[in-house]
Amino acid sequence: MSVPLHELALANAGLAGAPLRHAQRLVATWQPLADLCFSDLLLMAPVDGEEGHRFVVLAHVRPTTGQTLYPADLVGTVVHEVERPVVARAWRKGEIVGGDTTVLGRRDKARVQCVPMRHRDRVFAVLTRESAMTSGRRPGELERHYMDVFDRLARMISEGTFPFARDEVELEEAPRVADGVIVLDDGLRMRYASPNAISALHRMGIHAFTHGLQPREIGFDQDAAETAIGMRLPVMEELERGDTSVLVQAIPLIEGGRVTGVVVFVRDVTDLRRRDRILMSKDATIREIHHRVKNNLQTIAALLRLQGRRLKSTEAQEAIEESERRIRSIAIVHETLSRDSGDVVSFGDIVRPLVRVVEETVSTDEQRLRFDVEGDAGDVPGVVATPLAVVLNELMQNAVDHAFPHEDGESVEGHVRVVLDREPDELVIQVVDDGVGLPSDFSLEKSRGLGLSIVHALVTSELGGSIEMRDANGTQVNVRIPIKAQGADL
Ligand SMILES: Nc1ncnc2c1ncn2[C@@H]1O[C@H](COP(=O)(O)OP(=O)(O)O)[C@@H](O)[C@H]1O
Ligand SMILES: [Mg+2]
Repeated sequence: MSVPLHELALANAGLAGAPLRHAQRLVATWQPLADLCFSDLLLMAPVDGEEGHRFVVLAHVRPTTGQTLYPADLVGTVVHEVERPVVARAWRKGEIVGGDTTVLGRRDKARVQCVPMRHRDRVFAVLTRESAMTSGRRPGELERHYMDVFDRLARMISEGTFPFARDEVELEEAPRVADGVIVLDDGLRMRYASPNAISALHRMGIHAFTHGLQPREIGFDQDAAETAIGMRLPVMEELERGDTSVLVQAIPLIEGGRVTGVVVFVRDVTDLRRRDRILMSKDATIREIHHRVKNNLQTIAALLRLQGRRLKSTEAQEAIEESERRIRSIAIVHETLSRDSGDVVSFGDIVRPLVRVVEETVSTDEQRLRFDVEGDAGDVPGVVATPLAVVLNELMQNAVDHAFPHEDGESVEGHVRVVLDREPDELVIQVVDDGVGLPSDFSLEKSRGLGLSIVHALVTSELGGSIEMRDANGTQVNVRIPIKAQGADL
């Protein structure tokens, strides 16, 4: 539909408020109606101020069970009373009117059924069912039952009880007429089941469809139908039987305030559910792998630590310790990925454990350092989170190692802030300390330390970002990483 229904309705038919919402609810769920009557359905409303002489087509649906009369879109078309007297008659009398007429805009004959659409006792629109003239062929059993259900729903429309006064969440997987239809009477006895419904029952292991019995008596759950009658509202439910999953939608049929039956749409969703399960198990496998990678990295870190303890040289020991910390910061990312489903991690969840790794290296008697994490970086893809974790570890470790020098036996206080910020296409991470600041001859490009070399390589080459270090009553490091909008693949 090119023009939204509400705009057309308001501009041409002066339709607004509750009746308009009623019309919108119909249009949101009327595909089964078109399928049940094998016809095109048009929703028309009288052009404002013309007392029902001209009508505008607000919406149009084609049957998926039959051929359309209108391959071209009719929405917005204005129909004059002279062209379609039946529409005007249904409008004035407020009754369902049928008649032979011509196809809109053409000469061929058409059969039309006009259903006045009521909302709280007021007719505000007309639904027309448009079909080609039949060749006098007697309709089959399926057609008769479908038409009967359509006629009952049409009467509900004219009584104002259909669509139901509740916004349906239109499930994409909701059963369609072609999936299978079962008709129950007011005593929940089965009156008809379409061939596809019977096949679905077969797949559930039910082979004895018997007219006049209740679904329960042949082993088919009827809770949905009972609830639909009790609440006078449609009810959707999923049934499982062995490997078979069937989605059931029960719609109560109401006439003159009395429930006269239930139409049950059934859809075999076994294949759909199987695909869901495969996707889910894929997800579980990925998480399991992250878990194992994390375990392996932790083992490597522990082995390095054992090795470091045996070394005599302090320099060598420190090098091993640094390596161990780098490995542990990568393990943290895998641990987070193993907990969440999907390929993104909330970066805030990684920062805190990273801070803890660095805090462990602080000797608390001499260095009283406080770490704070501020702001939020949102979700970050795993491929970005891993290098970033290493970067953040290096920057925080540098604050501990260089910003707060002190003599033996002396104590020093300090504050290290990690500030996260997420801009639409950029992630900004700042590590700010209130220490002694960078050496006067410091330049990032010329710095030969391994830590900043790693940081520089990861930020610029691997992540395509930028890094800036400056003195600001201490040292402030700004890292900016370009990142696509959330939800986009990296
Ligand atoms: N937060 C900081 N405060 C003061 N100096 C720093 C800070 N961060 C880095 N530096 C300086 O940058 C140098 C290079 O750091 P880095 O490449 O990590 O090597 P390392 O930490 O092994 O010395 C440090 O030796 C230090 O002089
Ligand atoms: Mg360092």
